[in-house]
Amino acid sequence: MTAKPLTLIVAAASSNGAIGRNNDIPWRLRNELGYFHKVTTAAPAHTMNACILGRLCWLSIPPRHRPLASRYNIILTSDPSILDSAAGAAGAAMPPPPFTVTRPSLAAALEHIDELNRGSEVKIDRVFVCGGRGVYAEALGAPGHVQILRTDVRLDEEEAKKCDVFFPEVDQQLFVRQTHERLEQVAGVPVPRGLQTEAGIQYEFQLYEKTPLPLEESRS
Ligand SMILES: NC(=O)c1ccc[n+]([C@@H]2O[C@H](COP(=O)([O-])OP(=O)(O)OC[C@H]3O[C@@H](n4cnc5c(N)ncnc54)[C@H](OP(=O)(O)O)[C@@H]3O)[C@@H](O)[C@H]2O)c1
Repeated sequence: MTAKPLTLIVAAASSNGAIGRNNDIPWRLRNELGYFHKVTTAAPAHTMNACILGRLCWLSIPPRHRPLASRYNIILTSDPSILDSAAGAAGAAMPPPPFTVTRPSLAAALEHIDELNRGSEVKIDRVFVCGGRGVYAEALGAPGHVQILRTDVRLDEEEAKKCDVFFPEVDQQLFVRQTHERLEQVAGVPVPRGLQTEAGIQYEFQLYEKTPLPLEESRS
């Protein structure tokens, strides 16, 4: 398994952790989406970041926006033909999308990243876990250093109740909220401080971290 930190990136409702509705995001926050783009794209020269996504999360991205550009896309699914059908929809002769693979598990995705970094021309800098629920749940339980870049969305409680996908429960003893300075260090880009308002919805960029135990560090 890779020794790199796993960075979950998610926008979730404060009241109940809602992240999705009808296989879509429950809100339209352009600047928040811009934050996701900037953070996941920022990488040193000659490297790119990996984005790990579940099958439904991948399918929820409009076809014209996938694969996520300038990032190495790893889709978790038991059905590798998902990429064939994506290409087939646009034309049977299309090659599979660049820098895009499927893997059957998070462990297999991390192993693939290690293989790339050992022997290929593609070098992966950071590993972002981009959802949905099952992928987040597995990553939260991973050993080692796990970070959550959470956008805390103050969604109206009635709207939040209408959602159908929720961020998993987080152990607050393990995951500790970090300062804004640390958030900017982890995000790798300037991050607006405090409550933001967009489309009538307030939200806040936050960071939670589970630091590795010394034993885990010595194993990595
Ligand atoms: N607010 C946010 O920040 C945010 C972020 C991401 C997604 N979302 C929303 O969340 C919803 C999609 O998430 P979802 O939880 O319903 O589905 P999902 O996790 O994207 O997809 C589920 C499928 O992905 C594969 N999968 C998931 N976890 C896996 C694991 N740990 N190991 C191996 N395979 C795994 C399986 O595919 P197979 O069945 O093919 O094996 C599973 O059926 C959408 O509404 C989307 O808009 C919101």
